[in-house]
Amino acid sequence: MKPYRFRRSQELYQEACKVLAGGVSSHFRTLGRPHPMFFSEGEGTRVRDVDGNEYIDFTLSQGPMLLGHSHPEVLERVRIEQSKGQLFAAQSELEIELARLLTRILPSADLVRFSNSGSDAAHAAFRMARALTGKRKILKFEGHYHGWFDDIFLDVKPGEDGSGYRTSLLTGGQPASVLDQVVVLPWNDLEVVRETLERDPEIAAVVTEPIMCNNSCILPEPGYLEGLRELCTQHGVVLIFDEVITGFRVALGGAQEMLGVQADLSIYGKAMASGFPLSLVAGKRPFMECLADGRVIHAGTMNANIPVLAASLASVEILNRERKELYPRITRLGRRLMEGLHKRARARGLSLLVQGPGPMFHTGFTSLESIRNLRQCADYDMGLMDELAFGLLRRGVRIIGRGLWFVSAALTGDDVDTVLKTADQVFEEMTRRS
Ligand SMILES: Cc1ncc(COP(=O)(O)O)c(C=O)c1O
Repeated sequence: MKPYRFRRSQELYQEACKVLAGGVSSHFRTLGRPHPMFFSEGEGTRVRDVDGNEYIDFTLSQGPMLLGHSHPEVLERVRIEQSKGQLFAAQSELEIELARLLTRILPSADLVRFSNSGSDAAHAAFRMARALTGKRKILKFEGHYHGWFDDIFLDVKPGEDGSGYRTSLLTGGQPASVLDQVVVLPWNDLEVVRETLERDPEIAAVVTEPIMCNNSCILPEPGYLEGLRELCTQHGVVLIFDEVITGFRVALGGAQEMLGVQADLSIYGKAMASGFPLSLVAGKRPFMECLADGRVIHAGTMNANIPVLAASLASVEILNRERKELYPRITRLGRRLMEGLHKRARARGLSLLVQGPGPMFHTGFTSLESIRNLRQCADYDMGLMDELAFGLLRRGVRIIGRGLWFVSAALTGDDVDTVLKTADQVFEEMTRRS
């Protein structure tokens, strides 16, 4: 009998469970298939697990590794800068240098403030919106994710009694009072936002991923973001774009550059620092002034430490330098993958839906022609998706299990050919089994 392919990972997971709660450091990693996996190396498009299996990586660590793993220029900059000091409980010049670059690049960023994680930045943006408007509620959309903090970690679930979708708490320990502070609406439906803003004077902010990356990679309907923009201005509500995934990925200036609509406040993270923990709340001057004048307090011991600033400076400088060639290339390669996967699955009689802008995209099995909101996601056959993701993993291609693919700047045309050939083998195996 062949030895178990993920034996060392399995052993380490068992060891980890003895000293790490749940064997992991982030809840979502418990969902790893076939069990939480352990990795030891990453370079360019490739990662290697502790059993020595190599993968073409499309998880990109949930998005951050846009430049590929271990980019030498990023690592060199970090090495040089952090050798002089790591953290000073004060400012550093690197902070100004990075902020200058970002305010030039990001469409609605007159001022910025750094944090460590996307959740952190979202939390700051909500507090700012509440302070700026004197209102208490945040309007979010079904299927969008803005971090794990109490006041936003809510979504809808179908009621067990068949009573339709209900907003629910997503974790034990979350105060039920947040249900009174967050309104959750279906996305891509402007009328329902209009009605809600007309009816509820307590809405401080509307927050949206400008492209709904966290479920099915859904693009906004034409006019939808423009409509949100108009409604928010009309009702004195702060419009927050969560660009933690789209930022630096779909264009250098994120979805706001790509789609041409600007938010009042925006949050960024992930790809801006190549795997180092840096995030950002950015916005137009009148909105950011509440941090500048101290009306709103945002803080953090580790904020803007030297290694993350260095990693971000190097990453954003590379993206800026190469943007004219890099963004069309990752879009083109992503779209080639999307079309190739779709064609090969259909040829094997599998109804695979592939959607997204290219630099990231989603695959799922459904007979629907397109998925436009979270509720339609219920139509996906998650069992088949699991077979695809695990079949790919066993053959050296790693994607995010729920069907999300991130394309890196290190990906080549040859990689795309390899992945398509591999996917075809998996599709063939899936049809044979069904
Ligand atoms: C759109 C979006 N916003 C916010 C977050 C939270 O970021 P972090 O995990 O860095 O706290 C995530 C994380 O995946 C995300 O996808």
